[in-house]
Amino acid sequence: MPLIAFLHTHVTSWVLLLILFAVAYVGYKNGNKSGKIAHMAFRLMLLIAFGTGLYLYLQLNGGGAFYHVKITVGLLALIFGEMTLVKLKKNKPSNVMFGGFVILTLATIFVGYALPYGLSFFNSFI
Ligand code: HEM
Repeated sequence: MPLIAFLHTHVTSWVLLLILFAVAYVGYKNGNKSGKIAHMAFRLMLLIAFGTGLYLYLQLNGGGAFYHVKITVGLLALIFGEMTLVKLKKNKPSNVMFGGFVILTLATIFVGYALPYGLSFFNSFI
């Protein structure tokens, strides 16, 4: 399979991941079943985003130090997203995790679109 197919799968999975995060977040807040179902689907997308991201990283390694930054902020974004949903599910305070998730996700999208492979809107910044 060509590498670009992994990039498309990667982007599709993190877009779905963000949508499912929002559905699970609202579902848990309102205490209905959609939270649990969306959380399960979120975890599946998390694995796909991680797997395709890791594959891209290994294939494109040598592309520059920012690839290390990309996988670090990407992984942290996934971890903070999962921890936000787990805290919400248990009715524990989740605002710090949620704030971290938002900031890390924005940073990941920025670094992703600054790196050379695929679309590179922000490449003049790095
Ligand atoms: C919330 C999670 C994530 C988001 C929002 C995200 C976002 C992005 C974006 C916007 C791109 C650029 C797509 C393009 O150029 O068309 C990208 C590419 C990439 N991502 Fe992710 N990503 C996430 C998770 C991960 C993880 C966990 C890893 C590594 C394990 C990873 C590794 C990569 C690599 C290596 C690329 C290729 C960079 C390039 O275009 O040169 N990503 N990602």
